[in-house]
Amino acid sequence: MAKFRKIGILSSGGDAPGMNAAIRAVTRRALSQGIEVVGILGGYAGLLGAADESDPDVIRAKYLRPLDTRSVSNIVTRGGTMLYSSRCPEFKTEAGMAKALKTCHEHEIDAVIAIGGDGTFRGATDLTNHGIPSIGIPGTIDNDITATDQTIGFDTALNTALTMIDALRDTAESHARCIVTEVMGNGCGFLSLYLGIATGAISIAIPEMPFDRAYAINRIRDAREKHGKRGIIAICGEGMPDINGVKYGQDFADEIAASTGIDTRFTKLGHIIRGGNPTLRDRLTATQMGVEAVNMLLEGRSNLVMCVTENRITSVDINFALVLDRMYKNKLKDGDLEGFTGYQLAQMKARCEARHAKIKRLYGISYDICM
Ligand code: F6P
Repeated sequence: MAKFRKIGILSSGGDAPGMNAAIRAVTRRALSQGIEVVGILGGYAGLLGAADESDPDVIRAKYLRPLDTRSVSNIVTRGGTMLYSSRCPEFKTEAGMAKALKTCHEHEIDAVIAIGGDGTFRGATDLTNHGIPSIGIPGTIDNDITATDQTIGFDTALNTALTMIDALRDTAESHARCIVTEVMGNGCGFLSLYLGIATGAISIAIPEMPFDRAYAINRIRDAREKHGKRGIIAICGEGMPDINGVKYGQDFADEIAASTGIDTRFTKLGHIIRGGNPTLRDRLTATQMGVEAVNMLLEGRSNLVMCVTENRITSVDINFALVLDRMYKNKLKDGDLEGFTGYQLAQMKARCEARHAKIKRLYGISYDICM
């Protein structure tokens, strides 16, 4: 069993409901194994900040918080992250890494567990390569980590947005309006797709699928004129490209109004779906991933991303996960595929195909059902 004096835990990038449950699980599992835990505040920026500071009280208050079992009481129910979060470009520089290592060495942080998205995992692999074994836990509402079926926060964001879009339908119905609703997700349309189906949206625009606006507008016109539909919801993923500097959803709403005469509004759900108490599913996934991440470190394994595969908690190598993501997003860089076995490359391709197929299948369903 690998020996660690202290594990550092941090959350980085956009916060996601369930991050706290993961922090709690990591902390309590590590403590149960006699390992100290320190919360690194504000993501990787905390590691850098602590290196510049010499006053121990300031370090504790601003950058590094020792965690005991009571420090993580009552957080399993809470959204956000008790360790705070940030995006930290400086960490990617050599000087930034030097500061991070200085903090780890001075404060006896022998390993790091980092919760976040792909940027967070790049940081974790850099730390591993510099001698601090690290493991990533996928925490982002976007569900845009190709290696895992589910990221922590996705389920909660879906349920929060579901309630909000249902509420929009009430007012759309009362006023016989169409409401084009923009949903977060960065370049990933999963939130929009699931929500569009579950809320009965008449159209769903996501970056992964071609969107036929003329067809969608005809459906909206028919729904009103031929089928007497009053309240109409159209979902638009945040990752759809702006049109002449105007948000895609706003532009689409304007066109619906102009060409059908239907009173149409544009609404952006925005950051509100990133907060709120995590659902049971997110708490359970986060807890299992947190415990397993510590177990992996104890087994002497690192440079991994925790995943959900067919409802089981699994893990893959971080480099595999990052390259797989770039393959899925058509963003492979020269040399990316070097060093992987034929079997691994086949696994990556199969994973990309399965994900594309899932989106296509769900998109097809939405077209048949939502009228
Ligand atoms: O990755 C989570 C996410 O909420 C995305 O859906 C969104 O595009 C982005 O973060 C917003 O980032 P910020 O909070 O920095 O505005």
